[in-house]
Amino acid sequence: MDFITLLFLFSAFFTASAQQIQSNVSRSSSLTPTTNPTWLSRSGLYAFGFYKQDNGYAVGIFMAGIPEKTVVWTAKRDDPPVSSNATLLFASDGSLVLQMGQEQVAVVAESSGSASASMLNSGNFVIYGSDQGIIWESFDYPTDTLLPSQRLFAGSEIVSSISDTRPSTGIFRLKMQNDGNLVQYPVDTPDTAPYAYYASGTNGLGDNVTLNFDADGHLYLLNATSFNIRNLTDGGYPTKETIYLMRIDVDGIFRLYSHNLTQKGNWSTVWSSSSDVCSPKGLCGLNGFCVTNNQKAECVCLPGFEMVQQGNWTAGCERNFTVESCKSKNGDIKYNMQEVANTIWEDASYSALTVPFKDSCSQACLADCNCEAVLFKDRTCQKQRLPLRYGRRQLTDSTVAFIKVSTSTPTPTPTTPNGNMQRENKKEIRVNILIISASIGALGCMMLVISAIVLYKNHFRYKKLSCDGNVELSDDFAPRSFTYSELEKVTDGFREEIGRGSFGAVFKGAMSNGQKVVAVKRLEKVLAEGEREFQTEMKVIGRTHHRNLVRLLGYCHDGSHRLLVYEYMSNGSLADILFTPEKQPCWDERMGIARNVARGILYLHEECEQQIIHCDIKPQNILMDECGCAKISDFGLAKLLKPDQTRTFTAGIRGTKGYVAPEWHRKLPITVKADVYSYGIMLFEIICCRKSVDWNLPEEESVLDEWVCDCFESGNLTELVGNEVADKKQVERMVKLGLWCIQDDPSLRPSMKKVLLMLEGTVDIPVPPKPDSFLSTI
Ligand SMILES: *[C@@H]1O[C@H](CO)[C@@H](O)[C@H](O)[C@H]1NC(C)=O
Ligand SMILES: *[C@@H]1O[C@H](CO)[C@@H](O)[C@H](O)[C@H]1NC(C)=O
Ligand SMILES: *[C@@H]1O[C@H](CO)[C@@H](O)[C@H](O)[C@H]1NC(C)=O
Ligand SMILES: *[C@@H]1O[C@H](CO)[C@@H](O)[C@H](O)[C@H]1NC(C)=O
Ligand SMILES: *[C@@H]1O[C@H](CO)[C@@H](O)[C@H](O)[C@H]1NC(C)=O
Ligand SMILES: *[C@@H]1O[C@H](CO)[C@@H](O)[C@H](O)[C@H]1NC(C)=O
Ligand SMILES: *[C@@H]1O[C@H](CO)[C@@H](O)[C@H](O)[C@H]1NC(C)=O
Ligand SMILES: *[C@@H]1O[C@H](CO)[C@@H](O)[C@H](O)[C@H]1NC(C)=O
Ligand SMILES: *[C@@H]1O[C@H](CO)[C@@H](O)[C@H](O)[C@H]1NC(C)=O
Repeated sequence: MDFITLLFLFSAFFTASAQQIQSNVSRSSSLTPTTNPTWLSRSGLYAFGFYKQDNGYAVGIFMAGIPEKTVVWTAKRDDPPVSSNATLLFASDGSLVLQMGQEQVAVVAESSGSASASMLNSGNFVIYGSDQGIIWESFDYPTDTLLPSQRLFAGSEIVSSISDTRPSTGIFRLKMQNDGNLVQYPVDTPDTAPYAYYASGTNGLGDNVTLNFDADGHLYLLNATSFNIRNLTDGGYPTKETIYLMRIDVDGIFRLYSHNLTQKGNWSTVWSSSSDVCSPKGLCGLNGFCVTNNQKAECVCLPGFEMVQQGNWTAGCERNFTVESCKSKNGDIKYNMQEVANTIWEDASYSALTVPFKDSCSQACLADCNCEAVLFKDRTCQKQRLPLRYGRRQLTDSTVAFIKVSTSTPTPTPTTPNGNMQRENKKEIRVNILIISASIGALGCMMLVISAIVLYKNHFRYKKLSCDGNVELSDDFAPRSFTYSELEKVTDGFREEIGRGSFGAVFKGAMSNGQKVVAVKRLEKVLAEGEREFQTEMKVIGRTHHRNLVRLLGYCHDGSHRLLVYEYMSNGSLADILFTPEKQPCWDERMGIARNVARGILYLHEECEQQIIHCDIKPQNILMDECGCAKISDFGLAKLLKPDQTRTFTAGIRGTKGYVAPEWHRKLPITVKADVYSYGIMLFEIICCRKSVDWNLPEEESVLDEWVCDCFESGNLTELVGNEVADKKQVERMVKLGLWCIQDDPSLRPSMKKVLLMLEGTVDIPVPPKPDSFLSTI
């Protein structure tokens, strides 16, 4: 595949945008795909807005000023394209949202309170606050491309696209690690050496190393004191009428491209991270291996295997026969071993033998029913189970793989149409040719020497990587780590206790010379051991940023002490204001709170990097900031409890009695819908301003959800809100919504997204079925 060609073809899909240049965007401006698709940079080179994508449109930044309208950034890259009636709105509250039809809204940038925006000549789309400070910029959220002056900070990564015509998340990533190393991995793998396929080797040269990119094509790494520690490219390339971009391509290699603005030419490759197109791990999927053909990568299946999806290498290869029991009753040999020479694989062996010849290795596998493949090299025979992965031909390596293949009458695969037979045969021949030619090559002893050197070198590099590569401490935006004595000082010896939650006591503290008030939570429950788990959780929590979540500022893991530092919420908890008659907010304020909490939970469930199930949604865990904005606290902590502690609070249940979903009692899998249940109970409390269980009340009213249900059935909803003047229709909607949330069957409960839409009144709420078993829950 020629990636430059494809890049060019990609460009043909753009809408031409002949419109006036407008680099300063004010609030209440909007774009639509057909009539006014983009905001251009002053130079006219870059455009922000809609571009054609499949049968619809995507929102992003592309180069509009050149014939090949190259996309450099895409908003919400994994969302499907939108139709031509979508609108991109820089709303009057300063947020940048994509509206589709009446109700669906996707937030492109979290920028409420901003004043103006601008598509800069650098290719950066920037949103400013009223003080001209930058609130949001596209350079902070790179997809697969970096532009000159854009930087990749420690802890962040760029990820390739799925294909040359689709911008969604692909299968390779380039990470600027916190240890200073710039490393490439397949996606969904840990940051450890066995998965790496490119590394700058600059680990250990300091924290906060950044990848930098200058207008002259210079790509280099700077340490925290701006000292150049590694040049990837030399730079100094022509800058006159020439522009550059760096991208991690679909094939997993990152390249520097240049484009001569005075020519109607294409992008040309100036530099690549690797000249070996087979080096990216995972290019060929499971049970396939990569061979180079005319400098292009090509994937080949193991003998006895065929592509899962023709033309899709990532999908890998699967057996073309059904595996039966390896032991046969009448002693027939039903399998043989087929050789694939000079290929290297990930080693996941379950046993390693020392044998003199490769044939003894293959025999050992044939005799072992558990063995499905062996890798033989230097008298070591490693038995493997399938699938094999990260396979590639390397003529300088003497590893021979043997695959166990059935020789019994093949059960024809039902899905092989006749047309495929020819291709199958061709492929087979190709594999055979490769095997033969490769085996001849392997005989040269010269190659053995080379392979020994390569092996030694690789081994050495990996070892270096694995020492530092996998221990990732704090991210740029991650919470800070404190010592216990620091926090003792911050809280003045844990003097002022301001609350007590399910995890322990909370103390008031002050940092930055008393400038910043914080809340320090001392975890008193027995928590899961392990620095690493704790750090991982802290990192996940630290990466969540949402206005309806309490920010985690730091943590302490010091000896047996576990503490968390949060931003301070001056107005107490929701329980406080709901259940204190003097503090009770009015109906509209309460509905505002309900919406805010729903937004926070929606973020935890669907929008943050790693899904978080709160497990303990209740008014005590909703805190109010100085402006009366509700924020969720204690999220992400459920995972820190020891497995047996998960059975803590009441008879094997994590969460708080009265709010826990029935599936906890039934030992069913806990999903996000458990939070929806708790939210429903809390919604009733918000509607009625009373606790979910209150034995001081008459018996028929004491359990709130039952009482609400009764009132709903008898059409007597005014009782629920007491003397308060509230719109009857609204009360009814909220009650119906709450009843949907507390359905017994989790699949009947709406998703948080749906809940929010219902709260906002954008979708109708059908009449809910009566939740059936109140009895079993208390
Ligand atoms: C953009 O508009 C705002 C408000 O009209 C103005 O203050 C600002 O100077 C303008 N910026 C540019 C770059 O023109
Ligand atoms: C927008 O377009 C889609 C598909 O073309 C259509 O289903 C939808 O009803 C339209 N929405 C509006 C509000 O016109
Ligand atoms: C950056 O590198 C220079 C030169 O090696 C060194 O003196 C300096 O301490 C380094 N800075 C950091 C923060 O490691
Ligand atoms: C790295 O950045 C973090 C967060 O900005 C900062 O706390 C830390 O001190 C920095 N490390 C160095 C060596 O500059
Ligand atoms: C990188 O290149 C620059 C010149 O472009 C040079 O000044 C610098 O010393 C080089 N750094 C390293 C680590 O080689
Ligand atoms: C760009 O193309 C023009 C016209 O072909 C040529 O004169 C110029 O030298 C080129 N610039 C570079 C930097 O290659
Ligand atoms: C650019 O790419 C297109 C498509 O592959 C090709 O037809 C054209 O010749 C190329 N132009 C130049 C100047 O290389
Ligand atoms: C499976 O593939 C092998 C060679 O790769 C071939 O010999 C065998 O006939 C195939 N079996 C079926 C059922 O297609
Ligand atoms: C290829 O297969 C993988 C894994 O099955 C899948 O995720 C991906 O979407 C497929 N790609 C295409 C272009 O169909």
